[in-house]
Amino acid sequence: MNYIGSKYSLIDFLEKSINKTLSLYNETKVPSEMVFADLFAGTGVVCGSFKKQGYSIIANDIQYYSYVITKHMIENDGNLDKYIIM
Ligand SMILES: C[S@@+](CC[C@H](N)C(=O)[O-])C[C@H]1O[C@@H](n2cnc3c(N)ncnc32)[C@H](O)[C@@H]1O
Repeated sequence: MNYIGSKYSLIDFLEKSINKTLSLYNETKVPSEMVFADLFAGTGVVCGSFKKQGYSIIANDIQYYSYVITKHMIENDGNLDKYIIM
């Protein structure tokens, strides 16, 4: 989503920096054992990228658009029923 303030272009930097910091403190934990909290989720690209790594996600934003987009990005990961889209 093209949106001023989106951190899309910073995702690689954010992932590397956060994972490097985590490695200093959580040597034995894997992403599936941790929760990533995105308190100003916006377009959901940041928490969406951490979900792909296996983290459980808590997302928050005051805007309804963000709720809709982010709910899709972090919850809509089941298989599509082909009869619904035909
Ligand atoms: C810079 S944007 C977040 C960008 C997001 N990380 C992304 O990559 O799309 C800041 C977000 O903070 C939200 N926000 C501002 N004040 C807030 C508040 N008091 N509570 C919750 N969300 C708030 C805005 O709605 C906006 O989506």
